[in-house]
Amino acid sequence: MMDPLERCDPDDDTSVGLMAAALERGHRVECCTAADVSLVDGRVVARVRPVAASGPAVTAGPRGARPVGLDGVDAVLVRTDPPVDAGYLALTLLLEFARGTTLLVNDPRGLREANEKLYACRFPDLMPPTVVTADGPTLVAFADGHGGAVVKPLDGHGGRGVVRLAAGDPGGPGLVEAATAGGTRPVMAQQFLPGVGDGDRRILLLDGAPLGVLNRRPAPGEFRANIGLGATVEVVELDARDRRIVDVLAPALRADGLWFVGIDVIDGRLSEVNVTSPTGLRQLTRLSGGRPDLAVVDWIAARAGGGVG
Ligand SMILES: Nc1ncnc2c1ncn2[C@@H]1O[C@H](COP(=O)(O)OP(=O)(O)O)[C@@H](O)[C@H]1O
Ligand SMILES: [Mg+2]
Repeated sequence: MMDPLERCDPDDDTSVGLMAAALERGHRVECCTAADVSLVDGRVVARVRPVAASGPAVTAGPRGARPVGLDGVDAVLVRTDPPVDAGYLALTLLLEFARGTTLLVNDPRGLREANEKLYACRFPDLMPPTVVTADGPTLVAFADGHGGAVVKPLDGHGGRGVVRLAAGDPGGPGLVEAATAGGTRPVMAQQFLPGVGDGDRRILLLDGAPLGVLNRRPAPGEFRANIGLGATVEVVELDARDRRIVDVLAPALRADGLWFVGIDVIDGRLSEVNVTSPTGLRQLTRLSGGRPDLAVVDWIAARAGGGVG
């Protein structure tokens, strides 16, 4: 379950990479969007498109006329991009009716519970100083008191809407007014970590265990280290600070059924926990020389109890 395949980058999209890896292993793969999912007489069904390998990427045929039951597939990968809006919420609630009949990656209850920005706040010791509020003066005071801050929407992704607020910036009140829609929408302010210039580390986790680490360095003139914003990517080793964060997070992620997750670590601090559609798997596969993509597929196959088919 994902956004329309035609909108995905055939080389870099993680959903495409997972489908290609599953096909490589001989599994049958189908894709659909959230809008293709229905609940009919208590049974979750979807109108799916058959997916076939096409070089390193994949192609999908036309949507089948008859929906297939989710109870008839071994696993469902839920990878719709944010925003986590009313449509996304409805999808996770529909998927509840498939619970127990197929493996759901990630678990819909976990997806509802785990706001990507707020999940990290369960572990304040691992995070930079952080405040979440819609109150403009509180945000400005936070930036002033912490030598500058980053202000981000709670439902964003890809660096969208993430802005830097310098201490004492005369434009601060106007900036937070825009970010909070006039004081009506809470946002997160985090101490600005200057170490972001050395990179934002994306650690991909499978069942709480690290698959690898990608360090993303922001493009010149940019502090946002998102790949879609031109960040450069390199594979790095898991270091002691990464390890500590992973060890603390792993039991919580497992308990929430958040099997495939990407956490972001800046300057040794946890900044966010991506659960809806974590990216970076293809770059990790390409640059590491390993096959973390096949590791994900094989874990899903083993967990689902299904073999090839
Ligand atoms: N506390 C921070 N200090 C410095 N830079 C930050 C901080 N938080 C985020 N950033 C920068 O902004 C980018 C996007 O922020 P992030 O929280 O990862 O949101 P998104 O979901 O949009 O990726 C990060 O990759 C990083 O470069
Ligand atoms: Mg991020």
